[in-house]
Amino acid sequence: MIHQPSRPRRNRKSGALRSMVQETRLSRQDLIAPVFVVNGSQQKIPIASMPGQFRFSVDQLVDEVKALWDLGIPCVSLFPCLEDSAKDKKASKSCDPDHFYQKAISKIKQAVPKMLVMSDVAMDPYSSDGHDGYVDDEGNILNDKTLEILAQMSLTQANSGADILGPSDMMDGRIGFIRECLDEEGFSQTSLMSYTAKYCSSFYGPFRDALDSAPKAGDKKTYQMDYHNAREALREAELDEGEGADILMVKPGLAYLDILYRLREETPLPLAVFNVSGEYAAIKAADEKGWLDGPAVMLETLTAFKRAGADMILTYFAKEACEFL
Ligand code: PBG
Repeated sequence: MIHQPSRPRRNRKSGALRSMVQETRLSRQDLIAPVFVVNGSQQKIPIASMPGQFRFSVDQLVDEVKALWDLGIPCVSLFPCLEDSAKDKKASKSCDPDHFYQKAISKIKQAVPKMLVMSDVAMDPYSSDGHDGYVDDEGNILNDKTLEILAQMSLTQANSGADILGPSDMMDGRIGFIRECLDEEGFSQTSLMSYTAKYCSSFYGPFRDALDSAPKAGDKKTYQMDYHNAREALREAELDEGEGADILMVKPGLAYLDILYRLREETPLPLAVFNVSGEYAAIKAADEKGWLDGPAVMLETLTAFKRAGADMILTYFAKEACEFL
């Protein structure tokens, strides 16, 4: 035998040893389950481009959230699906305390008080323009006018009992503005998970199908980040940190592991990653065709997020992953 002092394979020689030298562990506590809410009752409507995902009416969602809590998932992130007739230019329903989404937040908190409820702060689910911000007559997205609406939306959600607000809109200065408004109104304990580095991505397609929220005109390039850029994410992170974000998020996930890793090096704040709808759909589709081993690829993907530096993962695989963790 050739003398070789270093033989990395020695640490891989048995399952027991491999498990002792394992650097990254994925667990149920790392997972945040995104879920879709619709108006009405007794609704559990499958989403065609996201097999295994549904739009739930609140009564059904309560059962689902109970099941997720029992599995050990600590947080759900709620997204509303509105009918077109409920949408308008100012996203009015987002600030209506009696609207079904706000009611869903409080009902889930009542039914499963320990479950962390994260709400989505952005105009697009409620906007007749399908944009995350206010659109003027020339088609411009008005930043500061949007902030007023986002702040009102945030207060409404905080008042409904949301534990964590997730501004997903990418307007400048929204974290600071929302933080100030929350504090002024006595919501100093409502957390902000900022979508810090949210890229303008084609991986959001199935989500926009689920919400029917695609922009009616134009695209989201003037507010979401250009995927050619990485340093810009550091700038966004620095701003969010200064403005009082509690947790920073990178989105999408798999194509942006470098961004996650860079932020991990730069910020002491907890980091989240959003394993988005298109990433989910791609794995599901390949699995259905028998071209990939879906569960194995799912676990490899989720582990990669942790290895790259994520503390928590928003993933439509949350429930399914529990079968293996
Ligand atoms: C919009 C929003 C999007 C997602 C979450 N919030 C899509 C978009 O920016 O158009 C995408 C999530 C996913 O694809 O899973 N505020």
